[in-house]
Amino acid sequence: MKKASLGFVWFLQLISSIICVLDRSQFPPSFLFGTATSSYQIEGAYLASNKSLSNWDVFTHLPDKIVDGSNADVTDNHYYLYMEDVELMDSLGVNAYRFSISWSRVLPKGRFGDVDPVGIEFYDKLIDALLNKGIQPFVTLNHYDLPQYLEDRYGSWLSFQMQEDYTHFVEVCFETFGDRVKYWSTFNEPNITVTLGYLSGSYPPNHCSDSSCISGDSEIEPYIAAHNLILAHASAVNLYRKKYQVKQGGMIGIVVDCIWYEPLRDTPTDRLAVQRALAFGVAWFLDPIIYGDYPPEVRQIVGSRLPIFSEQEKELLSNKLDFIGINHYTTLYVKDCLFSHCERLGTPPGDAFVHFTGERDGVLIGEPTPAPTFYLVPDGMEKTIMYFKERYNNTPMFITENGYAQANYLGDSVKDLLNDTKRIEYLQSYLESLKSAISQGADVRGFIIWSLLDNFEWTYGYTLRFGLYYVNWTTLERIPKLSALWYKQFLNGEKKID
Ligand code: NOJ
Repeated sequence: MKKASLGFVWFLQLISSIICVLDRSQFPPSFLFGTATSSYQIEGAYLASNKSLSNWDVFTHLPDKIVDGSNADVTDNHYYLYMEDVELMDSLGVNAYRFSISWSRVLPKGRFGDVDPVGIEFYDKLIDALLNKGIQPFVTLNHYDLPQYLEDRYGSWLSFQMQEDYTHFVEVCFETFGDRVKYWSTFNEPNITVTLGYLSGSYPPNHCSDSSCISGDSEIEPYIAAHNLILAHASAVNLYRKKYQVKQGGMIGIVVDCIWYEPLRDTPTDRLAVQRALAFGVAWFLDPIIYGDYPPEVRQIVGSRLPIFSEQEKELLSNKLDFIGINHYTTLYVKDCLFSHCERLGTPPGDAFVHFTGERDGVLIGEPTPAPTFYLVPDGMEKTIMYFKERYNNTPMFITENGYAQANYLGDSVKDLLNDTKRIEYLQSYLESLKSAISQGADVRGFIIWSLLDNFEWTYGYTLRFGLYYVNWTTLERIPKLSALWYKQFLNGEKKID
């Protein structure tokens, strides 16, 4: 890692004396502060050992799927450079690292083949290296990528058989890593997996069922995929609770993404539209695994296209998490399209009958950021947390992602990218908002920044940089941005930056 230049340190001290009012000591001592990544986005080594191709390996090699035509065959090469990356985390002073396990590295052919000991060894070494530095592994069992073999064999999440596959995969993980891993999330953003995978078709398996598509895939696919994911989650949690939790003493939850929504107009219909947007974004998944069934807001609209849980499944589902992981970045206005006519737009299915926008009467909802539709609206953090607190009886929460993207414009010099004062401003203000939610009794237990490193941002390829560390895509050198130094100072209180 390069030493920060003296100029940087001086500049950091200057801005901290102006804006840095927050530090770690204002959060509970056991609070987790970390950074996050995911397997496909950072590991590279896509053909190492017996690893099979994942759905994302295949998808990114199709023409025109990724804006810059890139893929994550190499990306940060973290598979080979993980020790260096653990050092980076250690130098920040974080006490948690959220990462995911590549299913195709551990079980290249799912339950139809053997475990690859080389894949296991990689995660074993990573976990040990983290624990050696006092960093808690916060493991996502599935962050979008899965063996293409399971896609080809029976259409992955469209098949109920995936529940068995997933349970087999998680059992290998609990059995092998559970002696050391105390935080498990079953899925990352399942609503994104199903809406982008089966509705807009912009993620694998590239099925499109909304009005913009001509492929003719059935418009019930997102609901079937969601149903199988929810049951797979419950099966994993049941297994963990029955066989591992008492012995290993960990927590298990799920990670959902939650944009906060404000009504475009202060009318009953736009306020109802906000409730629908939240129900189709979050409660679609969380209501079944907490209360045992789909939310009424979703059932009313989707009707017979929504699968039904049997009484036995409802039993199996209820109270199936120890924590909710929340990925929160932005707030948007919502306009009703159910009682008035408008173009339905946004990540929840068209069935939510809403239209999203960042603008009202020519005024933006917050300062725009380089990531499309991401605005700086710090209050959204507090409102999001309070929504979860109310709807789910203050179930323990972790902010599993929050972060700021820089655009990788050709004109931006490395110096500009390293000097990321906007990211610091963004993180500071969201942390203030988080603190305010905690002061109102919200049981939030951690805050994890997306991301440790610049990495492969799905369909945006390498055009967006979320890292606290800049990555040179030719040499793969990691260089701390100003935000890395800010985080370090935040975590270490008054300690000086070396
Ligand atoms: C959501 C996803 O979990 C992560 O993979 C992605 O890179 C970030 N948010 C930023 O968009």
